[in-house]
Amino acid sequence: MAKLAILGGIPVRDTRLNPWPKWPVWDQNEEKALLEVLNSGVWSYNGPKETEFNKRFAEFTGTKYAVSAANGTVTLQMALEACGIGVGDEVIIPGLTWQATAATILDVNATPVLVDVCEDTWCIDPKEVEKAITPRTKAIIPVHLYGSFADMDEILRIARLHKLYVIEDCAHKHGGEWNGQKAGSIGDIGSFSYQLSKHLTAGEGGSLTTNNFGLYEKLDALRNCGRRPEPASAGGADKGEGVYFDAGNFLQSGNYRMTEFQAAILIEGLKRLPEQNAVRDTNAIYLNTLLAGIPGVKPMKRDPRETKEAYFNFAFRYNQEEFKGLPAPKFRAALTAELGIEVAASYIPLNKCSLYAPLTKPARHKLSEAYWAAIDPARFELPVCDHIHFQGSACIHHKILMGTKADMDLVAAAIRKVYDNAGLL
Ligand SMILES: Cc1ncc(COP(=O)(O)O)c(C=O)c1O
Repeated sequence: MAKLAILGGIPVRDTRLNPWPKWPVWDQNEEKALLEVLNSGVWSYNGPKETEFNKRFAEFTGTKYAVSAANGTVTLQMALEACGIGVGDEVIIPGLTWQATAATILDVNATPVLVDVCEDTWCIDPKEVEKAITPRTKAIIPVHLYGSFADMDEILRIARLHKLYVIEDCAHKHGGEWNGQKAGSIGDIGSFSYQLSKHLTAGEGGSLTTNNFGLYEKLDALRNCGRRPEPASAGGADKGEGVYFDAGNFLQSGNYRMTEFQAAILIEGLKRLPEQNAVRDTNAIYLNTLLAGIPGVKPMKRDPRETKEAYFNFAFRYNQEEFKGLPAPKFRAALTAELGIEVAASYIPLNKCSLYAPLTKPARHKLSEAYWAAIDPARFELPVCDHIHFQGSACIHHKILMGTKADMDLVAAAIRKVYDNAGLL
């Protein structure tokens, strides 16, 4: 039996000789576009690159309007504000997500309500959403996590029944499709992140998508110090008359703008995205068939309604009982050593996440004793999220899906090797 790399053996993949595909991806087109921006002197907002990117991204997502912004955190905050969500309102979100999904709700003085996720997709559980609805609920933020899709049919059904906004957190889902509809075009607003790890990136950045002109107007103004949208800023879409911005109407806001440099990179990245998503999906489908043959690991559920998949991470489920009781952190460490790429746990549930700590900011969040108690993350119980994070998850950056079928064979071989040696760890 081959000795495990973590115990001094030879790794399944020697990444010095055989590195994983690189991320981010760029070529002379980005170089040219960046120089064009540099030489133009138009470096800030509402320039030709941003206008073009907004137009292309709206087309790509099948929405009427796209607005660019500084990152995928402020996009969520703006989405909430555009929907008029604030003091006294509750927003239901999954307990398993990046802290920004919750923190931005606090930033508009509303209350994040954390609910559990589905064991097989790790996305928000519609049954838990229904249980959490109160007269104060104003919105649901489903997060399409890693490579999974939240059940948008159920989310929309619930939202319509209770007259709630749906803000899709698509930070992991650029290009994914549910029933033929692109992520970000299904709910009222889609929010995207272009942070460096994401599968469409400008280092930092974000977008908002919507089909609703009234929401678009507010989003565009919110990103730009409250200014009324300029005619060109929706990428040339026909906007007709203003809905929100009647004479004398304006919005208090800040500067959440994207630069022309980011937009220039995104235009080029977006051209590659469909092909990259297809490669990742082909590899993921193949790798999942291999995983299905290894005891103790299980692919994520792929719903037949996911007509196009997009991956931020390749994730799978782990069962320590079948690995001779090997705890998940040890499994991931051994697999990391074999593959030469980090195999991480899922996000930590937000009721235990040190980066989601509303009670560290009394000067900002202690609006009243009742609000202070309502935003305490410890009041929520999230047993499925706990199981996933502490015992049942393995997540690897999407770049492992950008290589060849032989690369997928190596991933499966590495998991099998850890399985065979589990008793030695
Ligand atoms: C699910 C989710 N939502 C929101 C964000 C925030 O995006 P950004 O890092 O661009 O602010 C992230 C970033 O990792 C994320 O993973």
